[in-house]
Amino acid sequence: MSIDRIFIVGAGLMGSGIAQVCAQSGIQVILNDISQEPIDKGMKNIAWSVDKFIEKGKLSEDREIIMARIETITDFSRASEANMAIEVVFEKMDVKQEIFRKLDEACKPDALLASNTSAIPITELAAMTKRPEKVLGLHFFNPVPMMQAVEVVRGVGTAEETMQRGMDFIGRLGKEPIRVESDVPGFLLNRINLVSYVEAIRLVEQGIGAVADIDKGVRLAFGRRMGPFETGDLVGLDVSYGALTAIYEESKDMRYYPPQLLRRKVKAGQLGRKTGRGWYEYTDDGTQKGA
Ligand SMILES: NC(=O)c1ccc[n+]([C@@H]2O[C@H](COP(=O)([O-])OP(=O)(O)OC[C@H]3O[C@@H](n4cnc5c(N)ncnc54)[C@H](O)[C@@H]3O)[C@@H](O)[C@H]2O)c1
Repeated sequence: MSIDRIFIVGAGLMGSGIAQVCAQSGIQVILNDISQEPIDKGMKNIAWSVDKFIEKGKLSEDREIIMARIETITDFSRASEANMAIEVVFEKMDVKQEIFRKLDEACKPDALLASNTSAIPITELAAMTKRPEKVLGLHFFNPVPMMQAVEVVRGVGTAEETMQRGMDFIGRLGKEPIRVESDVPGFLLNRINLVSYVEAIRLVEQGIGAVADIDKGVRLAFGRRMGPFETGDLVGLDVSYGALTAIYEESKDMRYYPPQLLRRKVKAGQLGRKTGRGWYEYTDDGTQKGA
């Protein structure tokens, strides 16, 4: 059964991005959030991003046709129409577990249930349902419309058929699935990336290098589009801090111990682009000051 209708819980940064790429691929979307305000914000972001793709000649359909594939709702009354639900809410275990319990009740018995979590074990979300074999992780990267890789994550009870359907679905979105065979916190790619982020922050703490110099060096020496601090501001310092804490708590591996400078910036509300200040400062239109 192909996945042609999807229920997305959470219309924030990632949920709206996932809704957009689904709609661009011809999939019908029902986008849910707790109230109309985050939904309106999410829909505005989607319309802006779709326009950008059309301007660049990367989409051939009209904006209205793509947007018409996304319907919005503030309850779970239409979750039963979907072949798959994706949970994309705050990185809080109790909130996500409650959503999985509700989705299990509301969705068709053969529907897949996925989470976009960065660090919470899929197994602990699946345990809230009567269908752990149909629960998987679909870990998109930010910004969703631009990033090609999506981790397809197996929980302890996830069936191979579910993994395969998840991989096919990601392929249908024009993205590349990366198989992750165990739901360890951070999965594959964040574990690799976070080690170098922590090391970059420690080098700044020790006065060995400056933020802008390290970013420039990493871009030029390793052929990356962004350095660790530029990426950190885009992702959100709080998001990386949460992921590091989760990985450290499970593994007790010091490579993931959140550096003090990161902790202090999160406490000060310097969370990156979304607050106008993180490792760099940003103007209201999102341009990096002094860049
Ligand atoms: N930000 C990133 O770069 C990134 C990258 C990969 C994965 N993730 C993961 O994606 C998830 C969402 O992150 P985000 O950055 O989009 O967060 P966000 O804060 O932008 O959006 C979260 C949305 O969830 C909604 N929400 C909260 N509780 C809800 C509920 N009970 N029912 C319906 N909606 C609810 C909020 O109103 C908000 O609109 C997290 O698990 C995060 O770890 C984030």
